[in-house]
Formats: sequence, C-alpha cells, structure tokens
Amino acid sequence: MKKSWLILAVVAVAVPVVAAASQGETPKIKDVMAKLHKGSKSQSAVLKAQAEAKTPDWDAIGKTTKDFVILGAALEKNDPPQGEKASWKKLADKYFGDAKALDDAASAHDIEALKAAQKSMNASCKACHTAHRPPAK
Ligand code: HEC
Repeated sequence: MKKSWLILAVVAVAVPVVAAASQGETPKIKDVMAKLHKGSKSQSAVLKAQAEAKTPDWDAIGKTTKDFVILGAALEKNDPPQGEKASWKKLADKYFGDAKALDDAASAHDIEALKAAQKSMNASCKACHTAHRPPAK
C-alpha cells in the first residue's frame, strides 16, 4: 500500500497544480484549501461532478484524487495559523486519511467508497476551521 502511494505521488508530479509540492516545497495551507475547496473550479467541485457522472471516468477521477493526496499531505507539514499543534496534527492526519480513502476508491473503481470518503471529508471542515482557521480580517 505504502509503495503504491509513492508511485502515485511520482505520477502526479506532472500535474501543474502540485508543482510546488513536487519540487520539494511545502504548499501553504491557504493554497491547499483554495485549490482543493474554494469555489466551482476547485478539485472538490470537479470530483463531485466526476462522482455523479452516469459512467464514472476512473482515469479522470484518479487524477483528481491524487491532488487531494499530494496537497493533503502538505497540511500537516505546516504549522497551524492558530490553535494547538497536537490538535492540528490530529485533524490534518484525518484529512489526509480521507484523501487517501478517495484515492483508494478511485484505484478500486469503487463509487460507493468514493462517495463515503467525500462525505467523511466534507464532515471534517468545520471542526478544523473552528480550531485553526483565523477569523476573517
Ligand atoms: C486540517 C484542518 C482543516 C480541514 C480539515 C479543512 N480546512 Fe479549510 N482551512 C484550514 C485553515 C487553517 C485555513 C486558513 C488558512 C489561512 O488562511 O492561512 C482554511 C481555509 C479554507 C478556505 C479559504 C481559502 C482561501 O483562499 O483563503 C476554504 C475555502 C476552505 N478552508 C475550505 C475547506 C473545506 C470545504 C473543507 C472540508 C471539505 C476544509 N476547508 C477542511 C484548515 C482546514
């Protein structure tokens, strides 16, 4: 399992959005969130549409889920802008777990598992934002 992650990570290097990550830089939390979750062009919006398609395009889905894994892994490497580091680590780990579950589901062509992982991830936003997202200025 671990090994396949490494391979996936290497394959995803070609995706421009994760260029910073692939060059050994750690993307900032804000950039990770914006790319994966902000607005109708975000990867989560893309994945939602892909998951709802009559005939899922598993290659395309797999490309999207890989971004979640690569960028999701960057969360924990950052320090939280506020709140306890231990809490941050736990929530960032959970997020990364959901990201891996998305990608595992894509590899297995398992639409139910994909939707379950989306649901789990979507239920995780609020707790982390409450603890660690600074109030809007
Ligand atoms: C592990 C913690 C964590 C989880 C889980 C998390 N977020 Fe965030 N999110 C943050 C933090 C911290 C920020 C503030 C980053 C900053 O401004 O430096 C943020 C910022 C954002 C932003 C603003 C980005 C911007 O451009 O300013 C959006 C949108 C967002 N999150 C959406 C989501 C959604 C949707 C989910 C759930 C599917 C989610 N987040 C889950 C920690 C998290």
